[in-house]
Amino acid sequence: MIKISPSILSCDYGKMAEELTCMEHCGADYMHIDVMDGHFVPNITLGAPVIRCIKKYTDVPFDVHLMISEPLKYIDDFCDAGADIITVHTECDSPLGETVDKILARGVKASLTVKPATPVEEIFPYLDKLSMVLVMTVEPGFGGQSFMADMMGKVTALRQEIDRRGLDCDIEVDGGISEKTVAVAAKAGANVFVAGNAVFSSTDRAGTVRVLRELAEKNYLKSL
Ligand code: DX5
Ligand code: ZN
Repeated sequence: MIKISPSILSCDYGKMAEELTCMEHCGADYMHIDVMDGHFVPNITLGAPVIRCIKKYTDVPFDVHLMISEPLKYIDDFCDAGADIITVHTECDSPLGETVDKILARGVKASLTVKPATPVEEIFPYLDKLSMVLVMTVEPGFGGQSFMADMMGKVTALRQEIDRRGLDCDIEVDGGISEKTVAVAAKAGANVFVAGNAVFSSTDRAGTVRVLRELAEKNYLKSL
């Protein structure tokens, strides 16, 4: 139920293969891969060719977060490269329904996400098809930002809607997740936790993954 998804945005890109192996040994459930195009967000990271190359170094599923303007054009590329879950922003320029259907047609899990200023209700029409919804807890584009606790209302609303419909859909939070913030997100109903800076800057990465998981498990849906 609880999953920890370290974000390789904070890893040493010069030794990604080692970093992936390290995360696998640290107990990562997913590898969160941030794809940025310098247009949808003001930063550029990596694309499908890099994902294809690093896929062979780990069996940990790839949780691919597409911060790109036209994801529909590239869904086949990311599926071919080895994405296991693909998250697309509602604010992108591609038709959302078609994009989700394309991901599902490739046998890959589909997820949608909203930036902080976008209401989470925009995702509700697609919810029945999604394996996961990502609630951004920072403005997308950069690692190491501060967690936005005011996004927890979205997590709660989403959890209620998922439960009301009886769906099996994970809620992921991304941005500023650390030992200080993970409990708040778990209490609100998140169960997948992206952590970039907190894990990769830790002197005890395995310990940090373990503590994040323990805190999430202890606090999941526990009322405030
Ligand atoms: C931000 C990315 C995040 C980022 C999180 O645009 O989507 O996945 O890597 O990094 P931290 O955990 O350092 O906030
Ligand atoms: Zn991300």
